[in-house]
Amino acid sequence: MKVCIIGASGKLGRYMIRHALDRGYEVVGVCRERSVEKLADVRDRITIVPGATDDRDVIRRAVAGCDGVLTVLVPWGVRQYSSGTAQAVLDLAQPGARLVFSCGWHITRDGQDVYSRTFLVLVAVFGRLARLLRFAELDDQVEACNRIFASKTRWTVVRGSDLEEGESQGLPVWSRHVGDPVLASNRTRRVDFALFMVAALTNDALIHEAPAIVGCRTPSALAHVGGASLGGGP
Ligand SMILES: NC(=O)c1ccc[n+]([C@@H]2O[C@H](COP(=O)([O-])OP(=O)(O)OC[C@H]3O[C@@H](n4cnc5c(N)ncnc54)[C@H](OP(=O)(O)O)[C@@H]3O)[C@@H](O)[C@H]2O)c1
Repeated sequence: MKVCIIGASGKLGRYMIRHALDRGYEVVGVCRERSVEKLADVRDRITIVPGATDDRDVIRRAVAGCDGVLTVLVPWGVRQYSSGTAQAVLDLAQPGARLVFSCGWHITRDGQDVYSRTFLVLVAVFGRLARLLRFAELDDQVEACNRIFASKTRWTVVRGSDLEEGESQGLPVWSRHVGDPVLASNRTRRVDFALFMVAALTNDALIHEAPAIVGCRTPSALAHVGGASLGGGP
């Protein structure tokens, strides 16, 4: 399998590279020119395509011949970076490729997610502050995901809980909706978020799903799925 990782130099991206290489996949990574150095430890094992992730020429070259594309959707900047990135991947990935995108719980596919008051306040405050200070556009990440949800490609949108560092605990468990008691712990190891993204490439049950994930060893996962370690979900 040949996979492209878009946003390869970030924390999530580098974990995804590691998991993909562990599986024996051929890896192409896209990252900003200034961040190529962050991939120094793997530069002999992957192909690096430097450039902005919403640059269609960059994406066209990077996804050529790839069976899967893993995209880190980030809201940074105020020039529709997320939606530009998502649109380029949707338009330019080869037909039939598996497309897996990352985002957070704040994205809702069908409006059926139930959020705590604290979560809603945090998202609202961050969103307003980010817009005011012009460093991020949460609304554009929402727009990116809406375009993905409407697309006929073979997509999965993985919605991450709050993240932490640490050794892998295994594949996170998931639910279709935030508010499900299984997700109550709201904590996933970043390395396992990456594991779920890479595993989704070969899990057709996740096509056209937007799983909200939580660590499989967290109290809520242990209480509700008996500590499932195989990415248990609905
Ligand atoms: N952080 C959380 O607590 C959290 C919680 C839930 C879900 N998520 C989701 O997880 C994913 C990655 O999150 P992460 O926290 O682990 O971050 P990350 O992996 O470090 O990714 C950050 C990405 O953003 C890029 N980036 C940073 N500043 C940028 C800028 N000004 N313009 C363009 N690109 C920029 C980085 O590229 P460079 O290497 O070039 O800087 C990197 O690819 C995202 O989809 C996010 O929505 C995060």
